[in-house]
Amino acid sequence: MSVRLKVNGKPVSVDVAPDTPLLWVLRDVLDLVGTKYGCGIGQCGACTVHLNGNPVRSCSLPVGAAAGAEVTTIEGLSPDGSHPVQRAWQELDVPQCGYCQAGQIMSAAALLARTPKPTDADIDAAMSGNLCRCATYLRIREAIHRASELARSKSA
Ligand code: FES
Ligand code: FES
Repeated sequence: MSVRLKVNGKPVSVDVAPDTPLLWVLRDVLDLVGTKYGCGIGQCGACTVHLNGNPVRSCSLPVGAAAGAEVTTIEGLSPDGSHPVQRAWQELDVPQCGYCQAGQIMSAAALLARTPKPTDADIDAAMSGNLCRCATYLRIREAIHRASELARSKSA
């Protein structure tokens, strides 16, 4: 059975069972391997993508539930790595091993889209489901504040 959705701005039709997790479709069918498999049970956030702008755990979302929706992965956040979150992440050298970071960046971008100037409490609440085994949490928080500044200076 085929499921139609839009991924990173492009309409796609995938021939998979509708209960296939979106993460499998992204990685194995569409070859978008920037989104990572961590726990597979919705607990770590490594697989976070945007569904109509909202952060979702793609390991736990059947692709059928994304039919007709807009999915954005780390590859679609910006064409050249220039999204304010990506720029801030580079500036502050956030990643350590890097495994969790695509998910962290997607959660941070979704937070800033709805809360352009987040407080520490906003950041902690929005990011609490994204685990990092390397404990980069303090740099992540700092980088989100920096991305907020970069985004606002761009739009000023
Ligand atoms: S791999 Fe999806 S939440 Fe961990
Ligand atoms: S940077 Fe290693 S798990 Fe987060």
